[in-house]
Amino acid sequence: MPRRVVLIAAVTVDGFIARNNLETINWSKDLSLFKDQTMGWPVIMGSNTYKTIPKTLHGRECFVVTRGDNPKTILSKITKEKCFVIGGGKTYYKFIDHLTHVYVTPHPYIFGDGVPLFDGDGKKGIDLNFIRLIEVDKRNGIFQFQYKIIK
Ligand SMILES: NC(=O)c1ccc[n+]([C@@H]2O[C@H](COP(=O)([O-])OP(=O)(O)OC[C@H]3O[C@@H](n4cnc5c(N)ncnc54)[C@H](OP(=O)(O)O)[C@@H]3O)[C@@H](O)[C@H]2O)c1
Repeated sequence: MPRRVVLIAAVTVDGFIARNNLETINWSKDLSLFKDQTMGWPVIMGSNTYKTIPKTLHGRECFVVTRGDNPKTILSKITKEKCFVIGGGKTYYKFIDHLTHVYVTPHPYIFGDGVPLFDGDGKKGIDLNFIRLIEVDKRNGIFQFQYKIIK
């Protein structure tokens, strides 16, 4: 069971991660940071996200989850001390109770509608402690915010 379960996402200013459930994300500016941070660690994604990524993520063991999967069972298969939940909204929501950290990179877009960061029934609030800010593209105001979840 990993000690750290990290949500990592590119979000719009109004809190969406995609315009629709099968969008190939081409607006994110933090792909190289995503690659650096996730390299060598297991990644968990939903079946929709799997359909939208162009190729498998080399160097990372991928767990693709479907609706019947239990998050605890998936996590129990992971022997490394850290893993990343890489989306989408339904999958972030599925793992919400198991997350320990949140890494979000706000992007200069307002979609108005789309896939929210947490897509599920029943709103759950989470308290966060700020850890650090990582510069991605200072000129365009792109920074990754890292938080630890207060349990
Ligand atoms: N901006 C970012 O950082 C970022 C990151 C990742 C993904 N995305 C985007 O997010 C979008 C995908 O997000 P998503 O939330 O649609 O999908 P997802 O979390 O990738 O996958 C959907 C998951 O929900 C399950 N599911 C589908 N319908 C359900 C239902 N009615 N009840 C319960 N579970 C259900 C699916 O299982 P079944 O297979 O059994 O249907 C699957 O496990 C894509 O556009 C992708 O590009 C953005």
